[in-house]
Order: sequence, then structure tokens, then C-alpha cells
Amino acid sequence: MSSDSTVIPRDTNSGWAAERARRGGRQRHSKWWLLAVIVSVTLSLPLSGYLAPAAASQGADLAGFYPESQISYSWSSLREGPLTIFALLAIAGSILVFLAFHLFAGKVRIDGGRSGTTVPRWSRFERLLHWLLAGSFIVLAITGLSLFFGRYALMPLLGERGFSTYASGAIWIHETIGLVFVALLVAAILQWIKGNLFRSYDWQWFKQGGGYIGDRNTHPPAGKANGGEKLYFWLGIVSMGSVTAITGLVLYFTTWTGSEGLVAWSLIFHVLGAAGFIALAIGHVYLGAIGNEGTLEGMVSGRVDCNWAKQHHNIWYEEILQDGVQPEPASTSAADASVPSAKSSKSTATDAASLTIRTDDAPARRPLS
Ligand code: HEM
Repeated sequence: MSSDSTVIPRDTNSGWAAERARRGGRQRHSKWWLLAVIVSVTLSLPLSGYLAPAAASQGADLAGFYPESQISYSWSSLREGPLTIFALLAIAGSILVFLAFHLFAGKVRIDGGRSGTTVPRWSRFERLLHWLLAGSFIVLAITGLSLFFGRYALMPLLGERGFSTYASGAIWIHETIGLVFVALLVAAILQWIKGNLFRSYDWQWFKQGGGYIGDRNTHPPAGKANGGEKLYFWLGIVSMGSVTAITGLVLYFTTWTGSEGLVAWSLIFHVLGAAGFIALAIGHVYLGAIGNEGTLEGMVSGRVDCNWAKQHHNIWYEEILQDGVQPEPASTSAADASVPSAKSSKSTATDAASLTIRTDDAPARRPLS
């Protein structure tokens, strides 16, 4: 390592570092605001039942999502029984499993702390696609679950009329966003299918419990996506996503007038696929946002810390270095936005009063991605 270094004062208000920090901060904030608005608007939807009870007398179909006049009693009993139990077990079970995991095992910290240098991981297009997919999925999950469990969870609160008003709005949102989601799902599969093809080293990742179970100091090998992410891709995005999307399209385009059998089977698989997908997505969200230090920033800023890359995706990291990607110093905003772990605080270059660019590590600046 060369001793030749350039020192940039950290508290400067001018120059590229400050400008990049300001822009990065603004972008990060606007993304979180957007996500917060989507989630809160969707969560507040049930309130529409309180706000416009009069409209309900116009006769929104109380059966709402499930116009039972068109389907047999066997569907109703299936829905009230096994399907409800399956959906509850899958979703509540997934929340409990990851909550317990977090309480017992805790967050996986970046081994050796932050390096202070980053590499590009997700392009602008990939991040936009991801957050649109995630946003639409959240809206669909909230509206779908509230309609499915609404008789038990919302009707006692809103009353029949209130729930009816809510249901007609929620159905419209669910169907419209559902069409957008299907298009985004197809785009996501095409975009990420190549990086999710299983390789021989993925088996080793599973044998080592992904580095989550047992010895956390040994890092199982992984390409751009690790074994667990590949499993989520094929099981969640491709399999359950397709089942939910195709059955949703059948229901949308037959406008419930298809044969009784077609509607009933589509409903059954729509509920099964969606509940399974939500259960897996809960794990994905936990591991992406909470369970691993440094993962979320890749999908927010597009870049990840080099030590994170070595720890979680070593084969991918070596490949991109061989392809000529040069690590760059972490921007001050990235260092400020994410609190460094206790372990990492000693070795984090950006924690120092000044940011030191080691010219041997970061010879040239490249465009972000
Ligand atoms: C709102 C909560 C979510 C958060 C915080 C989140 C977070 C993340 C993060 C951090 C990554 C990058 C992982 C890495 O660099 O290794 C990622 C990747 C990805 N996420 Fe999410 N995600 C969320 C919701 C979703 C949902 C709902 C879906 C699907 C419906 C989804 C599908 C994907 C896909 C397809 C990838 C690309 C991974 C690959 O190469 O296959 N995400 N997510």
C-alpha cells in the first residue's frame, strides 16, 4: 500500500464531496418519503369506510372481492377454512420466524468494518425497477389482505356499509395496480434471471447456512446473488409471482364471468400464491433492510462497501475487479446516513475527521453506474 495520499477536509462546504453529499442526501430522502407516502396512503385506505359511509348505500357489492353469487358454496367454505388458516400461518409464521431470528442472532455486521471504499452494485434502472416492484407489491399485499380478512378484521370496525365502501375502492386499486405489477414482474424476471441461475458454489452457500446459522465468521461463496437470493427469485418472484399474476389476470379478464370452476380454482391459487409470496417477501425485506448491515444502501444509492461485497458476494466482487471496476471512496453522505457498527468504527476511513483517498486503492473516478 502506497503512502501517497490526498486529504480532503470533511467539513468542506464546496467541491465535489459536499455537492455529492448534498445530492445523495436529497435523493435518499425523497425515496424514503415516496415509500412512506405509498405505505401510509395504503394503510389509511380503510378509513375511507368511515369517511364516506353514505356512498355505501349506493350499493357497493358487500361481497366485494368475492361475488359469491357466481361461485359455489365449496369455495366459501374453503375460503373460510383451510385458505384462511394457510394464509395466516404462512404470513404470521414468517413474521415470527424472522423476529425470533433477529432477537436471537441479531444483525450481521460488516466483517472488519467499513472499508471506506465502495463499488457499483445496482444500476439506476435496476433500482427504479426494484422500488416500483416493491411499492406495487406492498399496495397489492395490503389491499388484498384487507379484503381477504376484511370480514373479520375491518367489518367489526367499519360496519357493513363502511366496509363495503372501503372494499369497492380497495378492489379498484388492487386490480389497477395488479396490472402494473404484472408488467413489472415480467421486467424483473427478464432483468435478473441470468444472475440467478444456480452455480455449483451455491450448494456450499446452503451447506454453510448462508453464514447466518452456525459460524458467522466463515463466509460462504456467492456470486452477484447468493444461494438464498436465488431461492427467493425462483420460488417467490418466478413461481409464486407467476401463479398469483396469471390467476389474477384470469379473474380480471373473465370479470368473474368465467365458468364457476375456473373462477374458483383461480381464486384458490391466487390466495395460495399471494400468501406464499408475501411470506417469502417478509424474509427478503428483513434480510435486505434490517438483518445485514450495508445491504440496503446498495439498492438505495447503487453502491456498496467493498468489505460488504467481499463478505457477502466474494465471487462477484472478484469478477467486477477483474472486469476493471475501480473501488471509489465512500461519499461523506453515505457514511453519515448509515451508522457504522461498533466493530467497524475503528477502521472506517470516513469516521476520521478527514476523508483520505488512498491513491493506490482508488486511482480513477468512474461514473456511478
Ligand atoms: C420494501 C421492502 C424491500 C426492501 C427493503 C428490499 C430490499 C432489497 C435489497 C437491499 C436488495 C439488494 C440485495 C443485494 O444487494 O444483494 C433487493 C433485491 C431485490 N429485491 Fe427487494 N426489497 C424489498 C421489497 C421487494 C419486493 C416486494 C420484491 C418482489 C416483489 C423484491 C424483489 C427484489 C429482487 C427481484 C431483487 C434483485 C435480486 C436479484 O438479483 O435477484 N423486493 N431488495
